[in-house]
Amino acid sequence: MRTRRALCASIPLIAAAAALGLAAGSAAAQGAPKLKVGLMLPYTGTYAALGTAIENGFRLHLAEQGGKLGGREVELFKVDDESDPAKATDNVNKLVKRDQVDVLVGTVHSGVAMAMAKVAKETGTLLVVPNAGADAVTGPFCSPNIVRSSFSNWQPAYAMGEVVANRGHKKAVTITWKYAAGDESVKGFKEAFEKNGGQVVKELNLPFPNVEFQALLTEIAASKPDAVYTFFAGAGAVKFVKDYAAAGLKKTIPLYGPGFLTDGTLEAQGADADGLITTMHYGDSLNTPRDNAFRLAYAKAYKLQPDVYAVQGYDAAQILGIGLTAVKGDVAKKAEFAAAVQKARIDSPRGAFTISKAGNPVQDIYLRQVSAKENKVIGVASKALADPARGCKAS
Ligand code: PHB
Repeated sequence: MRTRRALCASIPLIAAAAALGLAAGSAAAQGAPKLKVGLMLPYTGTYAALGTAIENGFRLHLAEQGGKLGGREVELFKVDDESDPAKATDNVNKLVKRDQVDVLVGTVHSGVAMAMAKVAKETGTLLVVPNAGADAVTGPFCSPNIVRSSFSNWQPAYAMGEVVANRGHKKAVTITWKYAAGDESVKGFKEAFEKNGGQVVKELNLPFPNVEFQALLTEIAASKPDAVYTFFAGAGAVKFVKDYAAAGLKKTIPLYGPGFLTDGTLEAQGADADGLITTMHYGDSLNTPRDNAFRLAYAKAYKLQPDVYAVQGYDAAQILGIGLTAVKGDVAKKAEFAAAVQKARIDSPRGAFTISKAGNPVQDIYLRQVSAKENKVIGVASKALADPARGCKAS
């Protein structure tokens, strides 16, 4: 990344290039200004590892493309959003107003992503969401300049509702953080679980990113449900899985959730995660040529195993590349960008997927089980699952 000083020094050059007629319309031409991409991700806090994995994945695809997307050399600008919705609007404006980025990529936390979506809608800036599942991003906020490379909160949750009901469980307790991702995950689970004969008897919550689970675990033990459904991720998921086992619940009440519970967390969770069943649009044992090549390249570049977040970052760059190639690097052509992305088949390590009219992946949701520190794929919970995109006028 260049420093702020270096960036300021290059602004007159960009202005001069524009004056010479090298405007965005002919951006693919030699000498086109760099494409400024703003990465707004958590680099501190409970989701810090997720932000890093997304950036790693994004950079890997970019490197494979020789540092260019849509014919334009890419320059990255970074902001740590701390997964803090209260700072989100200021943070996104650092990228949009101060750095004048052409494209926003972010973020992990649904509440922060909503602030990004609002700014993207108001300013027309292209936004690629590489994780946050906030249903509204591809619901009421859907827009040709907003696309997601990850999932909606509804998707893995709905798939899990069917799985838990089909496994014969009747009464479930849910436990999550009280914010959009937790609320929508529980809602999606409940919709499918209750449609298939189950009943959610209690919904437990604690504020994000609190990890004092003890009182709630005691309440679960007292309720004696057939199953527990949970949404936690990052460092919070590590602690929850360990605390659930330490409370003796793992032996008596099966725990289910979207795969964030066990993705990027297995080293830290150790044996306490063994056997957990989750639903997710990625897994560690797909063993396809595409995924094997991705995993090898990622491990070589970062000395780390990739996870679902790395894949979403990689695919965010792929989607940007597809859209920008179609508009020859001209970010102002939003309708054409969206049309190209919606026509494409994204060749993802997770398996090929498409993008809906609302801008959300239509993708297989795998059933996975933890064994030997891997999220092993044991089936497909839901084939080509599309988010219902409730409230999106484009869908
Ligand atoms: C979200 O806030 O939407 C979110 C955060 C972390 C995850 C998944 C979803 O792993």
